[in-house]
Order: sequence, then C-alpha cells, then structure tokens
Amino acid sequence: MNPNQKIVWLTDIHLNFATPDVTEDFIGAVGDLQPGAILLGGDIGEADSVAGYLSQLSNAWECPIYFVLGNHDFYRGSIAGVREQATTLAESNGRLTYLTAEEEVLPLSPSIGLIGHDGWADARVGDYMRSTVMMNDYRLIEELTNHDKTSRLEELRRLGDDAGEAIRQRLLSAIEKYDELYLLTHLPPFLEACWHDGKISDEEWSPHFTCMAIGHAIRDVMRTRPEKQLTVLCGHTHGEGTCQPLPNVRVETGGADYGKPAVTKVWEL
Ligand SMILES: [Fe+2]
Ligand SMILES: [Fe+2]
Repeated sequence: MNPNQKIVWLTDIHLNFATPDVTEDFIGAVGDLQPGAILLGGDIGEADSVAGYLSQLSNAWECPIYFVLGNHDFYRGSIAGVREQATTLAESNGRLTYLTAEEEVLPLSPSIGLIGHDGWADARVGDYMRSTVMMNDYRLIEELTNHDKTSRLEELRRLGDDAGEAIRQRLLSAIEKYDELYLLTHLPPFLEACWHDGKISDEEWSPHFTCMAIGHAIRDVMRTRPEKQLTVLCGHTHGEGTCQPLPNVRVETGGADYGKPAVTKVWEL
C-alpha cells in the first residue's frame, strides 16, 4: 500500500435489505472516496447471497477489501459452510482478504498491522439463562438450531473460544512486528463497547451482543505491552459509540440502519 492511504470502514451493510437503487448509490459513494483499502465488518448479506455481494463489491471497488463475516451472513446456512465459501472466494479473488482465515498479521500501512476474526456472541456477560431474547441466529443458523438453552450456551462458548484463541495467537505474533495494530471483528469484545441507542446493552441483550473470549485475549495481551496501541473496529449492535478498556486499547462500535448501507468512518493513515 502507498503511504497516506485513505481507509474506509463499513459495518453491517446488510445489502439484502437494500433496494438495487440504494445498493448502487452506496457502491458508487464508496468508490467516489477512492479508498486505499476497505475494512468490511460483517453482516453483508445472508448465506445464499454473501459471496455474490463480496464479488460485486470487489468488482466495483479498485482496492483491497479486508472483511469478516457477521451472524446474518450465516442465516439459512451453516457457519462452517459459509466460512469455507468465503475462504475459497478470497483465495481466488486478488482484492478480497477474509481475515478470519488469515493467521498472520497483514500490513495496513508500513507501520500499522491488521488482524481480524468474525468473533461470536458467547454469552459471557449479562444474564443468558434468564434472557428472553430469541435471536434469529438460534433459528436460522444450522449449528445453533436443535438446541435447548443449555446446550446452545455450550455451542456459543465454543464458537467464542475459537475466535478468542485465534485472536490471542494473532495478537501475540502481530505485536512483535508492529507498534500499532487494528483489529476488525463483528461483535463488540467488551460490555462497554455494546452500544445500542446511545446506551450500553442490558442483561437481556448483552449475552447475544458480546464476544468476551476476544475481549479476554485483548486484555491479557495488551496489558503486558503498554507501549503498543490497538484499535478495535466492531459492529453488530447497530449503535455507535467508543470506549477505552485499557490505556492502549480503543474500541469503536459502528452504527447502522437496515436498508440504508452507509460509510461507517473514513480516515487517512
Ligand atoms: Fe447487523
Ligand atoms: Fe450482527
């Protein structure tokens, strides 16, 4: 990448809820920004449409697109199947990089490293057992259907732990190579990042909104290296906000509206 690149971050674009005209305008508006790189934070479409949207976006935008997937991207399909499809697509498309499948840190600029993972809501904050929230995830994603509440909790924790372990290993290695890092993920990794309608999500919602396994990995690694800086970019709650769980860790949660895909943030490196 060239120095002084313009980075465009997009999260929760949910193109399956947008009309063709709205989608076309959105794709044009992002292209007009002439990004040096795009960070695409998940909830792009659903299982049967996400690969098509990724191909459409990579044909339209003439820059690298680093992406992770969100829970909606697995609806009416399976997590394993859609992840495999995304990995295969990215391997054959020079513009697309699926960060969940990338074990090594990537250069976002000569001095800033990029890692990422989809993450998963692992029900480690709030009160999962008392929560009456029935996410569509639990009806529409193969791995999460046919569970009672207790066995579903085990599956959510397993998915969260896989993400947390991947981020722990990537962060430990990335931190040796860069002083500044970005981490792109779908779920807020801390309760303080769980913004919704200007407030932090309550006990009912936060179990379904937070990937604490990634949060624990971030805290464990970044606490030992106060001279290094990490910026986390996440979405999922559709509520905008920022928090600073450690002096050297800043988390930005992107806002979103269904049917109105929009640019979350633009900045120059
Ligand atoms: Fe979303
Ligand atoms: Fe989501």
